[in-house]
Amino acid sequence: MTAPQFDGLVAVVTGGASGIGAAIVARLREHGAIVAVLDRDIAHADTAVSAFHADVSDRRSVDAAMASVGERFGRIDILVNNAGIGAQGDITANDDDEWARVQSVNVTGIARTSAAAMPWLRRSPSAAICNIGSVAAIVGMQQRALYSATKGAVVALTRAMAADHLREGIRVNAVNPGTVDTEWVARLLGSAENPAAERAALEARQPHGRLIEALEVADAVLYLVSPLSRSTTGTCVEVDGGMAALRLRPAAG
Ligand code: NAI
Repeated sequence: MTAPQFDGLVAVVTGGASGIGAAIVARLREHGAIVAVLDRDIAHADTAVSAFHADVSDRRSVDAAMASVGERFGRIDILVNNAGIGAQGDITANDDDEWARVQSVNVTGIARTSAAAMPWLRRSPSAAICNIGSVAAIVGMQQRALYSATKGAVVALTRAMAADHLREGIRVNAVNPGTVDTEWVARLLGSAENPAAERAALEARQPHGRLIEALEVADAVLYLVSPLSRSTTGTCVEVDGGMAALRLRPAAG
């Protein structure tokens, strides 16, 4: 890909202060986009980008932050709905409040943020939304009932949004990552009884035998939101080391 493809375009990345979001911000900037971060914790955001405080589970907060981005830059062309939180356990593990809280961030958060950006996206000559799902939307994973339900909803929502907004010239796609080496996973490992064994188990779960780098996910997002991908909408790209699609025989020896 060549540098000028995003020149003059304004991109908003939710959860852009950390992990996968921060990698997406870096890649978009490298390729010429002006990037705004919306995050509930902007203390660690790249100081080279404009960061706006927003909690995607709070509509007023999202509306205000998106209005500030529009006011600052005069346009919004790309929205990456990356902010998300985890939940562990089977269906007995979380009460109704926790189900509502996680769904509000991971699913309704995408609807809130996209609705707030919609008037701007409708005016863009190359409007694109990319949602971050998960391999958990596709394969059954143990102790991730609530989280998986929200990510399955992200995939369904992506297709519904793609259908609704195609004729307005707004493309909507998703990326489903496997386990990515971010602060999120570091926190999970930190709370494990044996972090090294837990990391080895996570690596072994992916057919290519390692954790995914955040920049690998960012490169898929970059492709999907690029003005060059004009005919790509309603799709989900797996960046998961083969986890969703492959069944390998155990390695010999
Ligand atoms: P992270 O925890 O490193 O970063 C998440 C960012 O989102 C943080 O900056 C956090 O402040 C922000 N955020 C969380 N809740 C928010 C809210 N209510 N409003 C605004 N901002 C909020 O996480 P990571 O690993 O970078 O994950 C990003 C996305 O990728 C999430 O949607 C996650 O579900 C998804 N994902 C992550 C995988 C992984 O293995 N790390 C695997 C598959 C999907």
